[in-house]
Amino acid sequence: MENKSEILNLLKSGEYVSGEKIAKSLQITRNAVWKNILSLKKDGYDIKAVRNRGYLLCDNSVKFTKAMLNIKDVNNIIILDSVDSTNKYAKNLSEINEDTLIIAFNQTAGRGRLGRSFYSPFGSGIYISLALVPSISADKIKLITVASAVAVAKAIEKFSDKKAKIKWVNDIYADGKKVCGILTEGLFDAESGNISLAICGIGINLTCPKGGFPADIRAKAGAVFEKCDGRTAALLVSEIINSFYYFYRRLPEKEYLAEYKNRSYLKGKTVSYTKDGKNFEGKVSGIDDDARLIIELTDGTSATLETGEVSVKPI
Ligand code: BTN
Repeated sequence: MENKSEILNLLKSGEYVSGEKIAKSLQITRNAVWKNILSLKKDGYDIKAVRNRGYLLCDNSVKFTKAMLNIKDVNNIIILDSVDSTNKYAKNLSEINEDTLIIAFNQTAGRGRLGRSFYSPFGSGIYISLALVPSISADKIKLITVASAVAVAKAIEKFSDKKAKIKWVNDIYADGKKVCGILTEGLFDAESGNISLAICGIGINLTCPKGGFPADIRAKAGAVFEKCDGRTAALLVSEIINSFYYFYRRLPEKEYLAEYKNRSYLKGKTVSYTKDGKNFEGKVSGIDDDARLIIELTDGTSATLETGEVSVKPI
């Protein structure tokens, strides 16, 4: 049984809190306190443990409040310290709240594309989901990912010294590393085929987590900033959402597409992918007007990918 949120509440005082006090107040053993602390540290919380003093939550985080945001188009902003997944939270809201923004500083079960997880520690990243009711047909939902990718890339360049590229379809790369992933999920009306709710989820590695990224993503993952505070994080999020809404209001006009193409991380690179159990390899020649990836295959033919994922072949 986990008591992590109760322990975090006790540690919020910014003072040392003894293991004994925590154990007493939650009616658990000191060993259980220690296990919870270890789990919180794994989530990214910077907690110091000092003999005879107890535990101290060091505030190294990128946290901010609603008042620090400057977002025009969103009616409802929910900020959470920690949640399993902001996309899941947005989907489960009791009412369908159009233009609701969920922001979390930690996800315990962050979701990535293709059933993968998204590493979402506390203190070094920001995890957001926008609940939208777009008036586009279901087959155009990809445009939300495309527009949001451009909004994220532009915002990263505005507030950092990094050049931001977009790895088709949904990843933002800086200095050759993935710094952001986007997952757009939809609920569809079976009769009309229209989208009843779209959730655009954006996860950004603001800084490198303490102790580095986990081994399985270390080679690929990077961060936007060397250091980041709550103020910068709030500016970045505000810029992303405002810029996204500019495009979203006129989504079918595809004003963002030229920039999506220009920022392509894959153009000119040799990639491989699997389709229907077969492996393919070729050179990316570009992105078409429907945001599809065009690849000149090694057998001389050309492939047009609607969605999916390709891997860059090492040179
Ligand atoms: C990917 O890289 O495969 C996409 C990652 C998307 C992560 C974001 S973080 C906010 C939102 N909530 C989630 O559970 N996932 C998305």
